[in-house]
Amino acid sequence: MSYDLIVIGAGPGGYVCAIRAAQLGLKVACVEGRDTLGGTCLNVGCIPSKALLHATHQLHEAEHNFEAMGLTGAKPKVDWKKMLGYKSDVIGQNTKGIEFLFKKNKVDWIKGWASLPAPGKVQVGDTTYDAKKIVIASGSQSSPLNGVEVDEKTIVTSTGALELVKIPKKLIVIGAGVIGLEMGSVYARLGAEVTVVEYLDRIIPGNDGEVAKSFQRLLGKQGITFILGAAVQSATATKGKATVSYKLRKDDSEHTLDADTVLLATGRRPFVDGLGLDALGVKMTERGQIATDKHYATNVEGLYAIGDVIEGPMLAHKAEDEGMAVAEILAGQAGHVNYGVIPGVIYTWPEVASVGETEETLKEAGRAYKVGKFSFMGNGRAKANFAGDGFVKILADKHTDRILGAHIIGPYAGDLIHELCVAMEFGASAEDLARTCHAHPTYSEAVREAALACGDGAIHA
Ligand code: NAI
Repeated sequence: MSYDLIVIGAGPGGYVCAIRAAQLGLKVACVEGRDTLGGTCLNVGCIPSKALLHATHQLHEAEHNFEAMGLTGAKPKVDWKKMLGYKSDVIGQNTKGIEFLFKKNKVDWIKGWASLPAPGKVQVGDTTYDAKKIVIASGSQSSPLNGVEVDEKTIVTSTGALELVKIPKKLIVIGAGVIGLEMGSVYARLGAEVTVVEYLDRIIPGNDGEVAKSFQRLLGKQGITFILGAAVQSATATKGKATVSYKLRKDDSEHTLDADTVLLATGRRPFVDGLGLDALGVKMTERGQIATDKHYATNVEGLYAIGDVIEGPMLAHKAEDEGMAVAEILAGQAGHVNYGVIPGVIYTWPEVASVGETEETLKEAGRAYKVGKFSFMGNGRAKANFAGDGFVKILADKHTDRILGAHIIGPYAGDLIHELCVAMEFGASAEDLARTCHAHPTYSEAVREAALACGDGAIHA
């Protein structure tokens, strides 16, 4: 059997690439070894974690804000099994949706794990397929940490954290990054005592420092404890209990903590096992990623790679954009991704979202900039909805007023950020945004006010 294009992996990078290539007239197959399509994101990542975040946020609202609005009565009880069932339903609906889209677009799903015996050849089980072009979109897996013995029951990665048999009384999270704080929030809302142990002296590295400080304070108010500047040495499990030992970097002192469950969330690494890249002579980067050029081509003729297996942020939407771009390139069009405008979102409450430059990166580059900030406390809608925590911060060029970056901590920050992404794609100035009429009362008025604050000042500050 031969194809114009075989995509390896049906996560957001791979399935989007396959669908777009089929829409552009190529004969396409996608190889996926899981029982369902959608990759890490739909099966054990973004989607299931968002289901648990949604359910536990509702619980938090019921426990903390209902009474103030005159909603009284028995507080809801948590049926953990049922909550996990809801999460599984959500996964099922989403993965089936991709199956439907494959059929609709005539993308063949080759079930099994692929290897690449030679350029232009893809082997799955006993069958070898010919492909004019091959795109590797095989994603990533949790990075191991020396001394931490993951068993996916007591010491878990994000995968095990979505399937715990019961809600832990005490949870230790290793790593104050996106996974650690999202899953830490889920279990804190469910009543677990959550301690986050982080190597650096701050949380969410790479994000705006002011947002990170504010975020840590708000998560602290929700009961999450942080131990910063602490290098985890080991985590071991015996009889369903775990012990974590760590060294404080400031004085080298050693400490231990006990818990029912430990979540290892110290990053992910490309997943290329079994593809046979070594034998094929595929060039890799020093960090174990597949090396590609600007058109996602590897050093092997006809072989391309996108998403978590190549460099750049490990984000589903970055992979999707690369999937579309490479499909367009392979169909003879000019596919392109603007890496300067890739938003990042943390789906806690409040949410954290960012795009473009931070104050830290601008200072490092020696670029003159101005800051327009607006607190959600000054936003009528947020005040009505118990959502006044947080702020919008827009960074604009000091001389030209062009928007260079934006950072939001607050209600639905992950949705609000896209107004700024579109503005940045169009090279807008803060004044362009400030002069755009925003409906009242909406959270997005806070974005406009921050844009106004880059000029003559916000109105409601
Ligand atoms: P991460 O890179 O976001 O954070 C890992 C954290 O662990 C860092 O703060 C790091 O300093 C810390 N760390 C490393 N070694 C340590 C040690 N020995 N002791 C204590 N702390 C240590 O990685 P994370 O959270 O595992 O996420 C992996 C990837 O998945 C990221 O690229 C992330 O962007 C992506 N992801 C994105 C989501 C989203 O967009 N909402 C959700 C979940 C994951």
